[in-house]
Amino acid sequence: IIYADSDAASRAIAHEIAGIIRQKSIEGKPAVLGLATGSSPKKVYAELIRMHREEGLSFQNVVTYNLDEYYPMQPDAVQSYVRFMREQLFDHVDIPSGNWHLPDGTLPLEKLAEFCKDYEAQIERYGGLDFQLLGIGRNGHIGFNEPGSLINSRTRLMTLDLTTQIDAAGDFGGLAKVSKKAITMGVQKIMEAKRVVLLAWGEHKAINVARAVEGSVSSDVPASYLQLHENACFVIDTSAASQL
Ligand code: GLP
Repeated sequence: IIYADSDAASRAIAHEIAGIIRQKSIEGKPAVLGLATGSSPKKVYAELIRMHREEGLSFQNVVTYNLDEYYPMQPDAVQSYVRFMREQLFDHVDIPSGNWHLPDGTLPLEKLAEFCKDYEAQIERYGGLDFQLLGIGRNGHIGFNEPGSLINSRTRLMTLDLTTQIDAAGDFGGLAKVSKKAITMGVQKIMEAKRVVLLAWGEHKAINVARAVEGSVSSDVPASYLQLHENACFVIDTSAASQL
């Protein structure tokens, strides 16, 4: 779906998410959301906060699992995705504190494999993700599933591509200081979500949006796997659509 700008698009996606939350609440069930960081989903979160404040949208039945976190990373660090999510959404709505989850960037290396397995097991116990929100990296990554990631890849520690490190350099105060690794939900869990929405705004995303949507399905562009998902949608602005 191509929107004139990211404002209208973000409002539409926030309304879709709110619809899932309300429907699940009526059914007395949790709404299990896969959430993303980065600049792309910021306006979606802002609209959800507005709906909470002005329309009484409650997050009491919401359970969230974020895609990724740098490793190692302390939750209160400026670059932390825990901090990002608290600032952009969690601290402004009534989501119970035990209901939101991110990969733990503080764990020692030897505990990571077990953590990643348990992260997926928790999602499975909820019956999978009802909705997965995604951005797309300039190299076509989803979460931190860099090019080369397989469709059945699991939640794991990834080494970040140079492109990804360059894009994060601003947040870290220079390329040399960027985390070289991150924990990411694998492609498999993303593909198992009942609904997937990928957001992309701006000219710099256009080439990989085109490769993901119109190119062949390939590990070179992990977002291209979404062509194989039966309920996935790219929600983009006219600039991001310019190479289609
Ligand atoms: C990071 C995140 C991704 C995100 C990407 C794009 O790499 N791990 O999940 O999609 O950035 O970020 P932005 O939305 O700021 O362009």
